Amino acid sequence: MATSQGTWAYRDRFGDAFARTYFRRFGPGVASSVGVGTYLGEPTDAIDERYRECITEALSSGVNVVDTAINYRCQRSERVVGDALRRADVDREEVVVATKGGFVPFDGSRPDDPAEYVRERFLDTGILDPIDLARGSHAIAPGFLDAMLDRSLSNLGVDAVDCYYVHNPETQLLARGRDAVYDALEAAFERLERRRAAGDIDGYGVATWEAFRVPRDHDAYLSLPEVVARAESAAETVGVDDVGLTAIQLPFNVAMADAFTVSAHRHPTEDRDVSALEYAQATGIDVVASATLAQGDLASSIPEAVDAELTGDTAAQRAINFARSAPGVTTALVGTSSPRHVPENVAAGTFEPLGARAFDSVFE
Ligand SMILES: NC(=O)c1ccc[n+]([C@@H]2O[C@H](COP(=O)([O-])OP(=O)(O)OC[C@H]3O[C@@H](n4cnc5c(N)ncnc54)[C@H](OP(=O)(O)O)[C@@H]3O)[C@@H](O)[C@H]2O)c1
Repeated sequence: MATSQGTWAYRDRFGDAFARTYFRRFGPGVASSVGVGTYLGEPTDAIDERYRECITEALSSGVNVVDTAINYRCQRSERVVGDALRRADVDREEVVVATKGGFVPFDGSRPDDPAEYVRERFLDTGILDPIDLARGSHAIAPGFLDAMLDRSLSNLGVDAVDCYYVHNPETQLLARGRDAVYDALEAAFERLERRRAAGDIDGYGVATWEAFRVPRDHDAYLSLPEVVARAESAAETVGVDDVGLTAIQLPFNVAMADAFTVSAHRHPTEDRDVSALEYAQATGIDVVASATLAQGDLASSIPEAVDAELTGDTAAQRAINFARSAPGVTTALVGTSSPRHVPENVAAGTFEPLGARAFDSVFE
């Protein structure tokens, strides 16, 4: 697991190489504000090799946050993260490793008949109850998450992960009502609190695509205050003093800034609705930004008016620095499977992010 001593020692290795706020408080220690993601790409040996090289290089050059999920590239992404952790010149205690469970994972390649695969491997074996499935491919039932976490630890070759996300819980809204989804989340959190008590995870989170950045009346909306309340109930049921929900993950970039602009969550102490970022900041929850480059689009062009305000030599660096500048964001994840992109993306951290006023002015 990442430790205070390990992550601060990692930071100290780089002296003044990065801008002042490049490393930020996260969990027990510090995390780089540029992280590597592992979502995109075909499930092939060739892409595995490229990711292995990229993650190893990133870990060696100032990135100590790695994000993956059991379903990414048919479990291959988790396996290459494990390879890179062993290969890079870093100790496990220096690196924040996050993964996610929710989507039923394929194993190595896409099966010809996904429905038969799910039936044989998950339903017939009792890992999943058909009633818990949404869209034939997603579940957050405690027993399923338990089994997925075990498999993730094995894929990654680690004793524990630093943050375990419930992956896109809004998918469950396709199969059941909102209250039932909150109940299912609370049951999932209870199980994750038990796994935290057992030392298998340091904390847990909720990774979303739409849930926290859409307006209240949107079909995919989930209320952050309600999710936090369910995490508090789960901690109480399990009998732990501190709540294990430490982070949320959501897309945030120049083209998708709704987590900053859409006020859909009741402020914890004031009588007003606030954005997901402001809510998280007010409650001490870390925000990890995904899709920082809008899946690559922003590396070639950023809307001109915004671009002029941003720091960085290249469009990719300026897009990364936009996400790193948002109040409340701890780390901006960049999916990187091309080795030539690694030094460019890491070097985004040598520029100062925008101050709060300059960031606000982008939206005026
Ligand atoms: N719901 C969720 O939980 C969720 C959803 C989406 C993403 N995520 C997480 O967030 C991470 C980041 O999001 P993402 O991977 O979807 O999208 P992204 O980071 O916005 O973009 C990744 C794409 O940008 C390209 N790229 C990277 N650096 C570049 C550079 N310097 N110049 C030009 N192109 C560059 C990559 O190409 P190469 O691969 O060729 O380097 C890749 O095609 C994911 O990997 C995943 O870990 C989570």
